[in-house]
Amino acid sequence: MLLDGKKYAEAKLPELKERVSKLEKEPRLAILQVFGDDASDRYVQNKLKRCREVGIDTRLFYISPMVEQERIADKIRELNADPNITGIILQLPLPEHLDEHYLTNLIDPKKDVDGFTETNTGKLSLGQPGLIPCTAKGVIDLLDFYDIPLEGKDVLIINRSNIVGKPLAQLFLRRNATVTIAHSKTEHLKDKIKQADIVVTGVGIPNFLRYDDFEPGTVVIDVSINFVDGRMVGDVKKSSYGYLQTLGGLTPVPGGVGQCTVIALMENVIQIAETEGCPSLMRFQNMLNEEE
Ligand code: GUN
Repeated sequence: MLLDGKKYAEAKLPELKERVSKLEKEPRLAILQVFGDDASDRYVQNKLKRCREVGIDTRLFYISPMVEQERIADKIRELNADPNITGIILQLPLPEHLDEHYLTNLIDPKKDVDGFTETNTGKLSLGQPGLIPCTAKGVIDLLDFYDIPLEGKDVLIINRSNIVGKPLAQLFLRRNATVTIAHSKTEHLKDKIKQADIVVTGVGIPNFLRYDDFEPGTVVIDVSINFVDGRMVGDVKKSSYGYLQTLGGLTPVPGGVGQCTVIALMENVIQIAETEGCPSLMRFQNMLNEEE
């Protein structure tokens, strides 16, 4: 079965448009992006296009690759203080002289649509409500869309990044799955892949896996976006798609998880805007934050 992210996105768009239309104020997403990174360009253009479709206004700020760190820090502080900005994204990766953790963590946790700040990361691992990283949320939403059961299942995540692997492990745990995180030093990876009910691969190597690496019935989620001769591919060898019938499910690249990530991002923006429009909920959240 093909786990079609595009189909999921098309099914969700009317609901998102409707939620935006009910807001008192147009939501606005600010994206800070380093100029000249091709992969970032593609991700960001995709985010901008979808946001426009549902009525989320966007502001794109290009950062020169030579910029001083404190200039970005000042911009983030300015956006934090701007009541017309609903959410902020600092597109990663950043050039080496910039400290990703320091800058990301300057974002007001209430505007942190990526869910990358210490506050939202902590809330996720404590099982508290907060803003959830978009790729991780998108993966779970896609599995739910196709009614794939998670409870009690053996899940193997081949990615230990803060952006994907770690938050995704937390979300699978919330759903009572049994989670293993694998990485470049993992031994007997092929055996672990054969044992898993669900494999999430985010290795970043084209053709890293092929259909006969998996037992029949395995659900395979490919979160990688690699470029080969300008073409977008994942980690799973393309000819594997001919063997879809032996797998429990496979996400294509493009048209798989990437689509769901953008939907999750827009849901986070709308969630913030809906909370802003409800003063009593805001007061309640502020009280909770003051107690922390
Ligand atoms: N780089 C690749 N994916 C992402 C993402 O989801 N958010 C940000 N900020 N940077 C990224």
